[in-house]
Amino acid sequence: MKRTLLLTAALATTLCANAQKTEITTDGKSAHVIPAEIYGQFAEHLGRCIYDGIWVGKNSTIANQDGYRTDVFNALKELKIPVLRWPGGCFAETYHWRDGVGPQKDRPTLKNVFWGNTMEDNTFGTHEFFTLCERLGCKSYLSINLGTGSTRDMAEWLDYITGTDDTPEVTLRKKNGREKPFKLDYIGIGNESWGCGGNMLPEYYANVFRQYSTYAHLYCNNTKPVRVASGSNDFDYHWTEVLLKNAGEHMDHISLHYYVLPIRDWNGSKGPDRGFTEEQYFTVIRDGYKMGEMVPKHIEIIQKYQKHVKLDVDEWGIWTDPEPGTNSGHLYQQNTLRDALLASTTLDIFHKYAYGIGMCNIAQMINVLQAMILTKGDKMILTPTYHVFKMYNVHQNAEYIPLNFKSPKYTFNGESIDALSATLSKKDGVYHLTITNVDPKNKQTISLNAANIVAKGITKAEIITSAKFNDFNTFEKPDLIKPAAFTGASMKKGVVEAVLPPMSIVTIELK
Ligand code: AHR
Repeated sequence: MKRTLLLTAALATTLCANAQKTEITTDGKSAHVIPAEIYGQFAEHLGRCIYDGIWVGKNSTIANQDGYRTDVFNALKELKIPVLRWPGGCFAETYHWRDGVGPQKDRPTLKNVFWGNTMEDNTFGTHEFFTLCERLGCKSYLSINLGTGSTRDMAEWLDYITGTDDTPEVTLRKKNGREKPFKLDYIGIGNESWGCGGNMLPEYYANVFRQYSTYAHLYCNNTKPVRVASGSNDFDYHWTEVLLKNAGEHMDHISLHYYVLPIRDWNGSKGPDRGFTEEQYFTVIRDGYKMGEMVPKHIEIIQKYQKHVKLDVDEWGIWTDPEPGTNSGHLYQQNTLRDALLASTTLDIFHKYAYGIGMCNIAQMINVLQAMILTKGDKMILTPTYHVFKMYNVHQNAEYIPLNFKSPKYTFNGESIDALSATLSKKDGVYHLTITNVDPKNKQTISLNAANIVAKGITKAEIITSAKFNDFNTFEKPDLIKPAAFTGASMKKGVVEAVLPPMSIVTIELK
């Protein structure tokens, strides 16, 4: 008898678990504003990010405007990119700006020593970068060379970009066709100074940063670009602590780099970009969630020393083995539904901690790592990650409204992570609820009690999903994964209900 009762109870629990609904509540109050800059991009002279990616040159047979690919440019414009970081990355630590100004035919061809020893013809340089930012309507973020450069190189470059007096650099800029100064918004003083940027110790870099920072604003013609210190590699809190302690008053922001690897082995195989196992799927989503541990910890350390300093996650995303058959130094990888889920869950983390964040830049914009766009000859495809960035840009500059819920779990091999991740924001009287279900097998039903938000009904709903976590768009089938109208949401008596299929990202607009 006792045994029968136990079995009945166990069965009831299972049935309940299957029919489980996640109740979400909110007090409707705004906690902070989500800076648009969280949706920043990064374009390095690496592989085919710049060349073939955005830049083909005026004489290319590929449709272009003044050398910028028309198809790629138009797709980027749709993303509402708030800020673009250039020219690296590690590449920036070997970049000398004079190689990239003046008539393109006269610029030197040099070896890209960090990335595959590829020859770099420098046809994309300072003018091409700032003109791109102007055309995209985004802020500019320049990385300064601390590795093979000098404070004098930096000073002259900053004068060239921002100056209005009759200095040799401003005269040169005018001779090169640009009368008025360019608008410089951020300067990164060094990149990965603990690694490719000189393998420095934090105490030493803190002094170098103080030195460069002293001259940075002096040569910016009274404009004051945000000075970004080169920050920590993922969980290295010691780096952040030493930097803030020794140079905190000289910086405006400090960066953080965090890449997710399907197999966390920087020296061996990182795992394939496609055709991967559930274990590698699980690992990526689980490790992506770790951004939610490290971001608040770094912010806490920063704020202990300097309340005004913001954290910039200026390199993030998934890093897999390169696509078979491509140059391993070019970091070209396919982009799957898994990567889209990593993007949406990471953006949720950035939204949550936006009170301490200045900007974030996914790595990288085109043809490199977790790219928005992949190109082949005159063809282009938009990746699942592109679609997330476009779908989520409704959160840019919106008010973040915290949600309360206990997520059901996605369990693999005895390890559990949250199946659901979500953001609610409000801008111009319109609410957007974005929810991700990372569970590859189970759908999730949610119900949001909207009593505390002023919305009459659902005005739009979209979904990104696919049958398998390793599905991706190809040049033959470019639209396998793209946003579609979502019919699984309804609102009745102030309660929003939605049924999220496995591995899906949904946006619901409420007015
Ligand atoms: O994004 C690729 C590389 O990753 C960057 O050049 C470097 O900063 C990081 O190690």
